[in-house]
Amino acid sequence: MRKDFLAITDLTAAEAYEIFELSRNLKSRQKYGEVHQPLKGKTMAMIFQKPSARTRISFETGMYQLGGHALYLGPKDVQIGKREGVSDIARVMSRYNDVIMARLFGHEDILELAEYASIPVINGLTDLIHPCQVMADVFTILEHKGKIENLTIAFIGDGNNVCNSWLNLASIIPINLNLGIPEGYDPDKETLSRAKRAGISKIQICRNPKMAANNAQVIYTDVWASMGQEKEAEQRKLDFRLFQIDDSLLSHAEEGCIVMHCLPAHRGDEITDSVMDGPGSVVFDQAENRLHVQKAILVKLMT
Ligand code: CP
Ligand code: NVA
Repeated sequence: MRKDFLAITDLTAAEAYEIFELSRNLKSRQKYGEVHQPLKGKTMAMIFQKPSARTRISFETGMYQLGGHALYLGPKDVQIGKREGVSDIARVMSRYNDVIMARLFGHEDILELAEYASIPVINGLTDLIHPCQVMADVFTILEHKGKIENLTIAFIGDGNNVCNSWLNLASIIPINLNLGIPEGYDPDKETLSRAKRAGISKIQICRNPKMAANNAQVIYTDVWASMGQEKEAEQRKLDFRLFQIDDSLLSHAEEGCIVMHCLPAHRGDEITDSVMDGPGSVVFDQAENRLHVQKAILVKLMT
């Protein structure tokens, strides 16, 4: 394993599967109430430039369960890059803490943080990618479908950070990735071309969401306006209106298709109540699995 977990492409497929194996182990230990504290005495600094429910709660809870302590540093605390340069804060935290988890706007800032920190840095979401999310999603798919390789995953909506992380996953593990994305909202060009160059997955962009959903075993969506894009929300509602996950779109998928959303969801926009609360929805399993998978990532990086 590399020092940091900044992107899924930091992992080999074998390392990703090791993380899933350890996640399974840690999840069952937790369910049996076993106290397991390999990170006793260790501390994690969590820097948040953006809001969060799942990322903050699951990392803080996970670190506690592993015997360590997590410090929540919100947007008004460190003010990384504003009150102080990224490289200085990286060196300061490396003197106090054992690991950093950061949720930042600019992806270049997390790269700089990792470069100057002598301790591991974990990406808790940037404008470019959300690797912990997609690792938890794949673990959830393994639980429900028994495998990930060569499944057809339809990501329908905005070509955002979560979508880019799916492309990164497609660079290390073979999947059929159907991207149902309206014109003008494509994923990051470099991330897309890297995934295509890796040559192990089938990747296609469809302007028609029904085509993207066709025979899919997994349908995935995310908000239409990400954090930082609030001003574009009204325009995006118009541009994405045909890309809502509703029962009619779901009828194009394979029987037994599971529906995923990283949350928070805007019910009635990108997903209907009936799909989100329907029999195929695994959205709360995904949310739970953030805890188990991130604990595995922490243990892998720190022991
Ligand atoms: N899915 C996710 O990362 O949720 P939060 O933004 O609430 O952390
Ligand atoms: N794409 C969303 C994900 C939230 C977890 C955002 O960046 O706001």
